[in-house]
Amino acid sequence: METTAMLYQDLERLLLTREEIQEAVKKLGQQITKDYAGKSPLLVCILKGAVVFFTDLIREIDLPLQMEFMSISSYGASTKSSGVVNIRKDLDVDITGRDIIIVEDIVDSGMTLSFLKKVFATRNAASVAIATLLNKPARRRVELDVEYYCFNIPDAFVVGYGLDYDEKYRNLPDIGVLDPRIYTKEE
Ligand code: IMP
Ligand code: MG
Repeated sequence: METTAMLYQDLERLLLTREEIQEAVKKLGQQITKDYAGKSPLLVCILKGAVVFFTDLIREIDLPLQMEFMSISSYGASTKSSGVVNIRKDLDVDITGRDIIIVEDIVDSGMTLSFLKKVFATRNAASVAIATLLNKPARRRVELDVEYYCFNIPDAFVVGYGLDYDEKYRNLPDIGVLDPRIYTKEE
């Protein structure tokens, strides 16, 4: 692994390697394939953080699935949730009777996904499940069922594999803890 590359200089430490991620994503894809046998789920990618995970995950699912993209407000240039959730880009299809799998990069406070689950339920989806790459249970502020996750991680701000800080580091192939000196100026 090339850890001397420019983006790695801002990491405090590496948390998950691309090999570990690949293995976990593959396992999750197999699990979803089993659980949704006979169905054609609609996978909803939450932009932009989940894009990298999403494109890997769908190729590990052996089902006639469909994909949709949705954008909701998140942190901006801060490492803390604003608590404000609003839809910037909505789905392009009617989801009545559909089995929805929301694909997210990380569940932190849980506020974003708790909101989305309610929205999809009022639109009469047959079922709504969450598949997240990372889960930070220590930070949960609302009750939320997370049906699928690849990794539970400690309370640290992480970047890479789609996850950003101020729109940077999304293209890091691994996941690392961002060095706090990068964002301490804002606190
Ligand atoms: P929640 O509503 O607090 O669960 O926020 C979830 C969103 O916050 C995620 O989709 C991410 O965009 C962002 N987020 C939370 N924790 C991190 C992190 O450690 N690194 C990067 N983004 C994060
Ligand atoms: Mg996000």
